[in-house]
Amino acid sequence: MPVLDYVEAIHAPKRFTGQIKLHPLEAFEGMRRAGRLAAECLDMLVPEVKEGVATQHLDDLARTFVLDHGALPACLFYRGYRHTLCTSLNHVVCHGIPSSRVLHNEDILNIDVTVIVDGWHGDTSRMYAVGAPRRKAERLMDATYAAMMAGINSIKPGVTLGDVGFAIQRVAEGERCSIVREFCGHGVGQVFHDAPNILHFGVPGEGSVLKPGMTFTVEPMVNLGGAGVKILADGWTAVTKDKSLSAQFEHSVGVTETGVEIFTLSPAGLDRPHTIHGPTA
Ligand code: MF3
Ligand code: CO
Ligand code: CO
Repeated sequence: MPVLDYVEAIHAPKRFTGQIKLHPLEAFEGMRRAGRLAAECLDMLVPEVKEGVATQHLDDLARTFVLDHGALPACLFYRGYRHTLCTSLNHVVCHGIPSSRVLHNEDILNIDVTVIVDGWHGDTSRMYAVGAPRRKAERLMDATYAAMMAGINSIKPGVTLGDVGFAIQRVAEGERCSIVREFCGHGVGQVFHDAPNILHFGVPGEGSVLKPGMTFTVEPMVNLGGAGVKILADGWTAVTKDKSLSAQFEHSVGVTETGVEIFTLSPAGLDRPHTIHGPTA
């Protein structure tokens, strides 16, 4: 890393500056620890996602898990939010609020968690299926995972954010699904939602050029129907306008000298829990 970038990185204030932060690669160790705990939290929830369980119960389990590991749930009290998780069911695009709603057979559920470990944020989400998902739901979830991974696998120094967005969009639209435009990924590190915005669509060659030390999320939201979304009266829950199913996966990643490191990989190999079909009752 050039010396001036390094000096900028170690003095970068822990707040939103609008500038893309370049973290010294040593800081990746903090991101690894936060990312691993967030992934372990989602691993812990895999056997808990089943018929009859309320989404608030999943939130209680996650809050206890995070606090028991000496970490903080980043969403708790964030901009007035009151939960550890976002639990987004079926046609909910993102920011679904845990509640007394119980899970039913054939529901599909995104669980999104962000933890803070020693000041570093690990932000990740996955799709879970209650029982065996319907074929179209399975196709949507597979397409969304493939789109996220295509974006992540395109990341290396010199590539632009437009290239990354294009890689994501191409996979999702190739599966006749649509990319949500209103929500994006974000820089992540000692700040939860930092610069840059990571759009999940784009034009190759456009946008900021990736450099080693950048850390951000890739978190495409993909709909089976149209791309339109609306926010419910609670001020958080985003749903598809046409009530079509929506899916999302999210990893926190860092740009290395030669490519990309994923901080939120599942230590248990459960990155795609929607492919595990537990008993239906
Ligand atoms: N974890 C979400 C993200 O991926 C943010 C949730 S903010 C909350 O950026 F306040 F709704 F929790
Ligand atoms: Co998230
Ligand atoms: Co995020």
